Amino acid sequence: MAADAFVMLADMTEAIPPEPTLPPPDLLRSQFPGLSEDVAALDGAAGTQVPQAVIDAVGGALASAMANTHGVFAASERTDRVVEAARLALADLLGGHPGGVVLGPNMTTLTFHLADTLARDWDHGDEVVVSSLDHDANIRPWVLAAERAGASVLIAEVDPSTGELPAEAVASVLSERTRLVAVTAASNLIGTKPDIPAITALAHQAGALSYIDGVHATAHGPVDVAALGADFYACSSYKFCGPHTGCVIARPELLERLTPAKLLPSPTSVPDRFERGTPAFELLAGVTAAIDWLAGLAGSTGSRRERLRASFDAIETHTQALLRTLLQGLAEIETVELVGSPRRRASTVAFTVRGQHPQEVAESLAARGVSVWHGDNYAFELVRRLGHETTGGVVRASIVLYNTQAEIDRLLEAVAGL
Ligand SMILES: Cc1ncc(COP(=O)(O)O)c(C=O)c1O
Repeated sequence: MAADAFVMLADMTEAIPPEPTLPPPDLLRSQFPGLSEDVAALDGAAGTQVPQAVIDAVGGALASAMANTHGVFAASERTDRVVEAARLALADLLGGHPGGVVLGPNMTTLTFHLADTLARDWDHGDEVVVSSLDHDANIRPWVLAAERAGASVLIAEVDPSTGELPAEAVASVLSERTRLVAVTAASNLIGTKPDIPAITALAHQAGALSYIDGVHATAHGPVDVAALGADFYACSSYKFCGPHTGCVIARPELLERLTPAKLLPSPTSVPDRFERGTPAFELLAGVTAAIDWLAGLAGSTGSRRERLRASFDAIETHTQALLRTLLQGLAEIETVELVGSPRRRASTVAFTVRGQHPQEVAESLAARGVSVWHGDNYAFELVRRLGHETTGGVVRASIVLYNTQAEIDRLLEAVAGL
């Protein structure tokens, strides 16, 4: 090879940074006390295990002198910093502004609250769009709030043959009276990832706001709320290795325009005025710890947001590779019927086994050391749309960052042996 070709090759090697990767599975899993049992934990979509760093942070917060916020003494000031740190961490995770992070117990409670707040401005004849792909937590709060306001609800329907939610399905139910479009960034049942930037662009053209359910999506890849065009983006940290708590992020200017129902003496500033009662401060310490832990996963450098990007690229690569082997393996089992075949999907799979009730399948798998969920998993409209509501729903296996090929193999072997 000519000398200048060597120079070129060397330059190219320097220019291309290595692909971010996760630590070796054993090392990664050893950080999770909840993974010490001999079980294939393919239930992460309903809540992940937490690393020791998160347990320590929650315990550490409880062990320090705890106080309520906005006092003038040290313990209270420390608590203020815990809240502030959680907002900063969530903003880094989601790519938004910390001043727009509304903290709350979980996504469902926050969504009911936001629905009540937004519906204060709705009128008879206004319209709200929800989708049949969504978890009921991003449907029912809007349906009930619309009912109270005299607004109508239109449903963007999933294509039952594929489990996709095409942007056109949303376009077909939009009008100049649409006030809000509520759609999930990923289905918690079949993994479908709709084209959220296209859907939010359509919503905005119609003059509507978008409310994106990121509860399932956030665990599976990098999130950028601005690039998604999400006016509101909701998520829950117990889905990404944090404690049981949730948040909604929005632009602070948008929150400034809204008037939530609140106690008279509680803060009037944004985002605090959207937060009801005393938060679980110790869990917020755990949220920050979870996000810091995730940021360190791929061993990359830069700002926390940059490191999170690298970690979630690595998480996506890992979980998508396992997803491929799971789909392929299930397709080879003659008695298995896969539910939905979306092209873009999170690593979450629903299936049925011929002649067996989904609960029976889940029980048999549990007896073989494999944890999976069964039923509708609260994707109630989707299960109905896909025709599984009278047959016990589906079996759901979900893959998260700590899952391994050995767990997939164990599931496949167990299903094949049913
Ligand atoms: C996609 C999706 N949306 C919403 C929710 C409800 O979240 P939370 O438990 O935080 O209320 C879940 C919970 O499983 C979910 O998977």
